[in-house]
Amino acid sequence: MEALSFPFRKLPIFLSLSILLLLCNFPSAHCHDFLHCLSSGNHSTVSRVVVYTPSNPSYTPVLNSSLRNFRFTDPSTPKPLFIVTPTHESQIQAVIRCSVKLRLQIRTRSGGHDYEGVSSWATAPQPFIILDLVNMSHISINARKKTAWAQSGATIGQIYYKLSQISRTLAFPAGVCPTVGVGGHFSGGGYGTLLRKFGLAADNIIDARIITVDGKILDRKSMGEDLFWAIRGGGGASFGVITAWKLKLVTVPKIVTVFSVGRTIEENATKIFHKWQSVAPNFPKELLVPVAILQANSTTRPGKKTVMLIFNAVFLGRAANLVKLLSERLPELGLKRSDCREVSWIQSALFMSAYPIETPPAIFESRDPLLKFYFKGKSDYVQEPIPEHGLEGLWKLMLEDEAELAQVIPVPYGGRMAEISESALPFPHRAGNLYKFQHIVFWNEPGEEASKRHIDWMRRLYEYLTPYVSKSPRAGYINYRDLDLGVNDVQGNTSYAKASVWGLKYFNKNFRKLVEVKTRVDPTDFFRNEQSIPPFLSVKAAN
Ligand code: FDA
Repeated sequence: MEALSFPFRKLPIFLSLSILLLLCNFPSAHCHDFLHCLSSGNHSTVSRVVVYTPSNPSYTPVLNSSLRNFRFTDPSTPKPLFIVTPTHESQIQAVIRCSVKLRLQIRTRSGGHDYEGVSSWATAPQPFIILDLVNMSHISINARKKTAWAQSGATIGQIYYKLSQISRTLAFPAGVCPTVGVGGHFSGGGYGTLLRKFGLAADNIIDARIITVDGKILDRKSMGEDLFWAIRGGGGASFGVITAWKLKLVTVPKIVTVFSVGRTIEENATKIFHKWQSVAPNFPKELLVPVAILQANSTTRPGKKTVMLIFNAVFLGRAANLVKLLSERLPELGLKRSDCREVSWIQSALFMSAYPIETPPAIFESRDPLLKFYFKGKSDYVQEPIPEHGLEGLWKLMLEDEAELAQVIPVPYGGRMAEISESALPFPHRAGNLYKFQHIVFWNEPGEEASKRHIDWMRRLYEYLTPYVSKSPRAGYINYRDLDLGVNDVQGNTSYAKASVWGLKYFNKNFRKLVEVKTRVDPTDFFRNEQSIPPFLSVKAAN
């Protein structure tokens, strides 16, 4: 395994310890030791690394800047000793070396969208720091070779925007929300509107750079195929700090078609959705029709609530063909040509992320999310259509008060997803799944009481769905992290059996191989969190 030189920005500025101390405002003992360590050893010329301690006025704004789930902005949430925002791989090497030495845990954060916020907090009383890659977000595109390198701190929206500035037909099959960071997203799988045609983001990653616990910088060749396999779907936080990804870009038509059509349960939505369950996974690969199920005001019964199903679509083709296809396969939806818009692929990305189509795509450069909420999410996989009476029970739950801002989002599989083997990557949810179910409840009142009410509602919904979703294991998606599924031991000596409880749900038979890779790459479990892959227990925890 050899050290590699960094392909992106070269930072010529090297600053002395005194500048580090200045940035580490009123340093705590830990901070002082940390800065002293950074400036010593092989890193005598430590480049500028900004360290925010709690006494620094920027600490809280920086901490909360990319924390997407407000549940973890609460004062009771354990806070990091400090936040480090590197700009260069050599700084990450030094941060890892010093954290190992001082027995500090690292939480690596790229876009901060983790559903349970584990990139921003750690189970007390573990001393931890946040390594925030927000300043490592460079993207370079080779349009001729149809490849790109993206640093882990980039967002998927920034990639989409950069691509749109070069070509109307180059795209990348990643998620819908533009502010999601590629560090967490790609390492957990990552899916979006091109899922049925091209698979996951992780299926389209062809190289990566990772810094491991011993401070080595490895690429695909030097890390070897097993570790490269593990970081594409196994959750990056278990193996090291991934600094960059090489993407295989895909080609989409110049014109694609989108629509968004809502039907309430009074407008036959139950029957339409019942049929959707078996037809949407068998549409041509070029078509994805996800559904958002939510509470709405009834138009026919003033003052009453109803359930609305919004059928969205991105079709890699023209509107006339889409209308024809749906009139044959799902005529119950009643799709009309006037419901459809022909747009460019980047406009389809704006549309699906809830921006008006006319919005300048440069909005995707922003890291500010469209909405900021408290939320709790869960996920499921559906392998047999849910019968109508089962759907009616789900609608009842959706009409409860706590579901005012809830959404259940079925996303059809099939197409390319069914062609990739379950073991090709750690992400095992391939053939045999009709659709993935995302369940998410948002609320905007602070405090424990509101939190408890909404989380209880989510747990009841999950319980209700038990007979209708995958079993043995009841599968889930790691990128929709759910700590209800089980957590590791705080001190890092989690047994294989204990971690299997959540690990089999996310990774099924691939879990064991992930544990084997972890045991080789990080045997002392330095890189760990509440749901990281543990090594086999024969190895003693690092701190
Ligand atoms: P964050 O920085 O919180 O990291 C998540 C996890 O990855 C943490 O464990 C973190 O330590 C680790 N990690 C991050 N960077 C790392 C690095 N460089 N090296 C090693 N480990 C690293 N998913 C999807 O597939 N399709 C979608 O459309 C969406 N949409 C969506 C919308 C919204 C509003 C949210 C909040 C989330 C999604 N997601 C999603 C889920 C998303 O893919 C998931 O939360 C990702 O892990 C987020 O990656 P971030 O880098 O933003 O998170």
